[in-house]
Amino acid sequence: MSLLDALGRPLGSLRLSVTDRCNMRCGYCMPNDHYVWLPRASILTFEELDRLAGVFAGLGARKVRLTGGEPLLRQHLDRLVALLSARPEIQDIALTTNGILLAEQVGALAAAGLGRITVSLDTLDPARLKLFARSDRHSAILEGIAAAVEAGFSVKLNTVVIRGYNDDEVVPLLSYARERGLELRFIEYMDVGGATGWREGAVVPREEILRVVAEAFGPVVALDGRGGAPAEQFRLEDGSVFGIIASTTAPFCGKCDRSRITADGTWFRCLYADDGLDLRTPLRDGATDGDLRLLITGVWQARMDRGAENRLAEPRRGALYALDGLRADPRREMHTRGG
Ligand code: GTP
Ligand code: 5AD
Ligand code: SF4
Repeated sequence: MSLLDALGRPLGSLRLSVTDRCNMRCGYCMPNDHYVWLPRASILTFEELDRLAGVFAGLGARKVRLTGGEPLLRQHLDRLVALLSARPEIQDIALTTNGILLAEQVGALAAAGLGRITVSLDTLDPARLKLFARSDRHSAILEGIAAAVEAGFSVKLNTVVIRGYNDDEVVPLLSYARERGLELRFIEYMDVGGATGWREGAVVPREEILRVVAEAFGPVVALDGRGGAPAEQFRLEDGSVFGIIASTTAPFCGKCDRSRITADGTWFRCLYADDGLDLRTPLRDGATDGDLRLLITGVWQARMDRGAENRLAEPRRGALYALDGLRADPRREMHTRGG
């Protein structure tokens, strides 16, 4: 029997952020010039991250996703993947990356046992990437996607759709994905920490994305079997599949089986929570796996988070945090929580 929270949701999926650093500056995540970083000494080693993953696996977690910041900035991430893949309870090891460093690391990641890769791709236009994410590495991202496909990975693409930035690229991006047999997921712009410029008018809602896709590609059929995943899946007439993650206008909190650990070992049950639980201190102070299991069990059983649904109920919605609020605690940043 898997551990259930106060709303009957299992602890199924764990997101491990391995670093809060990033080599891009996407407008929806890390748009500012200066950040407060997690102190170096607080960053968990691979052995510590793996040990925590083992405790969560013992409580029912079957999926682990490595996130950042940009996870491939962490040297030899394949070593962590190898540790995790030695745990038979963990059935799915995935990575969410911006793709810049993917081509050079994909072979080692495959050899270590990584299962799936998701690459963020918000535009096909290098000049836009430069403007919006302050990166001139667009070709490296495309090379990373190609290298992951070549290495035999099941690759998904993530596109955050933002009005006035890339809302005119829904059709070209989906064409790019279809031509390569990749599943692209359009993501509604979320008012999470880090999204300091968020405003309702910049969100391109699920309905609009579906309308634009149907006008270009013909009838769209919704697929079943979403489970606790944030993405709804759809099929086009030619059989290709794409997704929509509508966390802003249609949250999936009722089925949410996920939680995340920041690179300094703080455990957040909800993407929108103000505070998390410090697991690093007990971990480093000699707690046994049994002690950690008890701690995590108690907190999960009391879990009632419905962060995205609560945000939806806000009458006047703006950015979740202003810059001061984020600087007060770097763990509120999206790049620290890893989505
Ligand atoms: P799969 O294992 O393929 O289902 O991956 P995923 O879609 O869960 O992971 P990914 O890192 O690709 O995240 C896609 C989008 O979903 C990102 O914009 C995340 O911020 C968002 N997301 C991830 N986890 C949560 C969550 O717990 N709550 C909400 N509201 N959104 C989330
Ligand atoms: N809204 C929606 N998605 C976001 N991500 C980061 N910030 C936001 C935001 N404000 C996405 C990234 C990545 C995933 C982990 O989270 O694009 O694909
Ligand atoms: Fe889960 Fe919170 Fe995301 Fe809702 S907003 S799906 S409760 S993490």
